[in-house]
Amino acid sequence: MQRGLKPLPGVKNIIAVASGKGGVGKSTVATNLAIALQRQGWSVGIMDADIYGPSVPTMLHLSGRVFANDDKKIVPMEAYGIKAMSIGFLVPDDEPIIWRGPMVMGVVKQFLQDVAWGQLDVLIIDLPPGTGDAQLTMIQAVDIAGAVIVTTPQDVAVLDAVRGVEMFRKLEVPVLGVVENMAWMDLPDGSRIHPFGEGGGRRTAERYEVPLLAQVPLDGRVREGGDAGRPVALEDGGPGEAFTAVARAVKAALS
Ligand SMILES: Nc1ncnc2c1ncn2[C@@H]1O[C@H](COP(=O)(O)OP(=O)(O)OP(=O)(O)O)[C@@H](O)[C@H]1O
Ligand SMILES: [Mg+2]
Repeated sequence: MQRGLKPLPGVKNIIAVASGKGGVGKSTVATNLAIALQRQGWSVGIMDADIYGPSVPTMLHLSGRVFANDDKKIVPMEAYGIKAMSIGFLVPDDEPIIWRGPMVMGVVKQFLQDVAWGQLDVLIIDLPPGTGDAQLTMIQAVDIAGAVIVTTPQDVAVLDAVRGVEMFRKLEVPVLGVVENMAWMDLPDGSRIHPFGEGGGRRTAERYEVPLLAQVPLDGRVREGGDAGRPVALEDGGPGEAFTAVARAVKAALS
């Protein structure tokens, strides 16, 4: 529990998916974790806190605009039974977002407080990359039950992941564990290669004595699922299976 921060009415748990580094797969993990949790019976929402580079609309195959209900709350979009909110539902795709920090913060707070999330077991926040002021303000806008840290196996990503973990520690947000993404790649001939090295997830997890929640393989189907708006976690077996384990661990940690 973060001290002095308000919970969101109706939302049992808020978790943040974060990394120090860009492009390691936060949005991929966030959307697939949302799907996996939903498939395990939880009511799930996802909030895209990446104002400059929203990914959630594409990854969940959502487009169009949101509108307000009679209570003047924004009605989130819905895909695969998951409620979703993103800047992409407010600003046209081809319009550059040139807002400054305070405006971005205002929008993020609105996404939390002025959205009709309804009753949720969990709201997942897909954070933008980095550990700067923007992330700090977002994390402090609301009471976050836990953070999932995403890293790739290589050392530079681990260094950034460490910064991510430190940020949550300072803010007294429990780190639920580490997801190592792009952990390996299985080739058609049955061999396995490690394009991004090995062990980064485990090293990060051991350093902070938190669980390594899963290793997600580098697999074209993961990318295709993201681009097509049909996350791999909708399918049994295959590379989406890793997210089942993440979802189970997250549920156990929050229950
Ligand atoms: N395990 C994987 N296998 C194959 N492609 C992947 C995997 N994970 C992510 N990708 C692809 O890598 C790209 C970056 O992933 P994603 O957008 O999830 O990263 P991110 O950390 O959210 O990036 P940003 O820092 O820009 O928000 C996407 O095109 C995604 O489809
Ligand atoms: Mg992202």
